[in-house]
Amino acid sequence: MEMDQLVALCKRRGFLFQSSEIYGGLQGFWDYGPMGVELKRNVREAWWRDMVTSHNELVPPPGAPSCYEMVGLDCAIIMHPQVWKCSGHYDLFHDLMVDCRESKRRYRYDQIQGRWVEAKGQTIFVCTESQGPEAMEDLQHKALRFFNLRSKEADELRWQGPIVSLPTLEGEGGKGQGEGGGPVYDFSRVLGPDAKTLGTLTAPREFNLMFKTIVGALGGEEDAAFLRPETAQGIFVNFKNVLDSTRVRVPFGVAQLGKSFRNEITPRNFTFRSREFEQMEIEFFCHPEHSRAWYQYWRDRRYRWYTDLGLAGQRLRLRDHSPEELSHYSCGTADIEYAFPFLAAGDFGELEGVAHRGDFDLRSHSEGKLVRQGETLVVEQDPQGKPKHRGSGKDLSYFDDLTKERYLPHVIEPSAGADRATLAFLCEAYCEDEQPDESGKPTKRVFLRLHPRLAPIKAAVFPLVKKDGMPEIAKEIYASLKPHFTAFYDEKGAVGRRYRRQDEVGTPFCITVDGQTLADGTVTIRDRDTLRQWRVKKEDCAAEIRGRLGI
Ligand code: GAP
Repeated sequence: MEMDQLVALCKRRGFLFQSSEIYGGLQGFWDYGPMGVELKRNVREAWWRDMVTSHNELVPPPGAPSCYEMVGLDCAIIMHPQVWKCSGHYDLFHDLMVDCRESKRRYRYDQIQGRWVEAKGQTIFVCTESQGPEAMEDLQHKALRFFNLRSKEADELRWQGPIVSLPTLEGEGGKGQGEGGGPVYDFSRVLGPDAKTLGTLTAPREFNLMFKTIVGALGGEEDAAFLRPETAQGIFVNFKNVLDSTRVRVPFGVAQLGKSFRNEITPRNFTFRSREFEQMEIEFFCHPEHSRAWYQYWRDRRYRWYTDLGLAGQRLRLRDHSPEELSHYSCGTADIEYAFPFLAAGDFGELEGVAHRGDFDLRSHSEGKLVRQGETLVVEQDPQGKPKHRGSGKDLSYFDDLTKERYLPHVIEPSAGADRATLAFLCEAYCEDEQPDESGKPTKRVFLRLHPRLAPIKAAVFPLVKKDGMPEIAKEIYASLKPHFTAFYDEKGAVGRRYRRQDEVGTPFCITVDGQTLADGTVTIRDRDTLRQWRVKKEDCAAEIRGRLGI
């Protein structure tokens, strides 16, 4: 499947629209249309139900070291600014970016790639933002334009080495040592992705990804606050509230689902990297001695969630981070990754990270922002020897009244993105086949093989023709389905075309009232994937479909 086909279907059938499209759109922001909103709501509800409401705290699930409890939270998007200072986001949550002095465009440093090429006695490094198969095509186009060559003169370009990312040039003349010991970047032979001349890229600079806002009408800089870049911190700062207001005991998990905001330098790949997105996060608190076993449990449990909902086989993988990749706080992280079609063959994009965060977060919000010193974490100090970012001073330890032990729980964090999961389910579901049309001629059929739990509409009801009392019976059936699940009534156009429209949005079942219904009170139910049709009594439709949906 080409990504363009899915993007077109999402727009055509009301899954996703560019935000503020009539004003030209706003990069990195997306609106979910009538179908998309149902799909994403189903993703969120499946997650909440599977992780929180249907979890039985009296029985250990398969693979879990013991029983555990799960509760939820819904925290404010804007929190006290100190939260982000202690969490490390204020100082550390940035990307390196480079600007182009000629095109005035800004790029994420690690997302520019290029290749050395020689022609007409000059060697330059040509850059592109494109990834995957388009990258080489784009590089060739840019090199031809720079050297003033025509397409048929492409063999005058002598490419050297493979395509590499811009940061890899640092060792090859891209970066040297400045007088003060700081790096000096030499991009004089680099042709920026949108530049016509060489040497227009600036040295990389840090860019904090948090959106800043002002709280209150008179607010100045001291009233600056941030839109949360993750939902996780709301859970940590409410740890004590949850303990004091419920009867949960360690081990337990707190789930939160909601919007997060990151001022991404280069939002891209449809909704994959957006500036406003939704997260589905669990902070699981456990005894330090059992934390490795819980980490293993959550890593496998979360992977299974995606396979249970239809992501399968070669396109999904669980990848353990190498020690160099681990965040400053993490003693183990695994990513659940999906081979999105917009990536180069063999590349995977992150759907969810499952991190062993130790006691970093509870300690940070208690003592102040922490830094690693050798093997231990210590409170970071300012030049005067005071904590750089002061914590709340509250005791966030846990007292186990059975063992009489007091300790700071360790945290396992499965952190997923609702939009990325939705996009992966859409990519996986997109199918094409050939089916005979009304006249028996084979024609292309586009359908979404969505898991029935995720499908925006569970069943559509059609009268075969708009007469002989068929619409009345179909409307009765439709009314009997509505209290149980999303249903759609359609009496317009040829029935074959109505089936196709439902296939395109992934409706698993279509019910048709036909001539036989008038004789014996039965209707056909058609399965989206197998196209098999069977008959049931018209009054049994809701029960039949509920049985097949497992609801
Ligand atoms: N609390 C940990 C945390 O936020 P993360 O890896 O930065 O970790 C977790 O984010 C998940 O949130 C990612 O795996 C991804 O699914 C989603 N996510 C992160 N940035 C995103 C973005 N710019 N657009 C869409 N989803 C994003």
